[in-house]
Amino acid sequence: DDLESFADEIRSAETVVAFTGAGISAPSGVPTFRGDDGVWEKFDEGQFTYGRFQRDPEAFWDDRVGLQREMFDGTYEPNAAHEALAELGRTDHLEAILTQNTDGLHGDAVDAVVGADDPEPAILELHGNSQRVRCTGCGTRRDGDPIFERAANGDLPPTCDCGGVYKPDVVLFGEQLPGAVIQRARTLARESDVFIAIGSSLVVQPAASLPRQAASSGATVAIVNLESTPVDGAADVIRREDVTDVLPQLVELVTDS
Ligand code: OAD
Repeated sequence: DDLESFADEIRSAETVVAFTGAGISAPSGVPTFRGDDGVWEKFDEGQFTYGRFQRDPEAFWDDRVGLQREMFDGTYEPNAAHEALAELGRTDHLEAILTQNTDGLHGDAVDAVVGADDPEPAILELHGNSQRVRCTGCGTRRDGDPIFERAANGDLPPTCDCGGVYKPDVVLFGEQLPGAVIQRARTLARESDVFIAIGSSLVVQPAASLPRQAASSGATVAIVNLESTPVDGAADVIRREDVTDVLPQLVELVTDS
């Protein structure tokens, strides 16, 4: 079946890159952005633009506390799909995980699965990390929990000792992705022999252009997503299935022979 021949391609590939979105964390309980129960049904993307943060940080933070509660209230564990990618890295079949997610679950899975002497896949968090904040004055990054707590208690906008306003350490709408990170992601996409897009609607730019870049530089592109995506036409393999079904199966096929 085509999963088996795809597993063969992964086994013989020099460079395999995974690209993930909210769908890989959905089985862990983290809500997705789009689709049924997506957070953009309850919140307006316009509340979370970089322009609004700059114009009115108080109102931005007030809304952001609500979004944070909706998305990250509770502690989430990596699921079988995160673990499968970590295992693929441990067995030296995965170079890097490029993720649009800000939940930190790929890092947690790699910490849990990969031993000290095994190869680790690189993890590039293209949209930052929701568990951290960054001071817009002095640039210091810190754990977000106490800062979100302060904001929830009415300290709006929360500021650093230096007087600068804290910003969630994520990429907001209308904000540039960190240049070095997106450059490295583009290079990895271009150099990949196999590129697997997992659990992403592939509609947000510039991240969504990565699978097209991989395809046009000759990679075999696979898409694992419950729904169809605008990039399906450029893909060689498409599985419209749950990530926690497909990825463990795939990794078993890759590592078993
Ligand atoms: P989306 O919410 O747009 O898409 C998630 C996709 O995952 C959907 O197409 C679902 O069909 C699919 N999905 C859900 N559960 C799944 C499962 N168990 N197995 C397989 N597929 C599943 O999320 P992203 O594509 O990550 O940006 O969204 C991209 C960006 O848009 C986010 O990073 C965020 C958002 O606005 C910023 O915040 C800058």
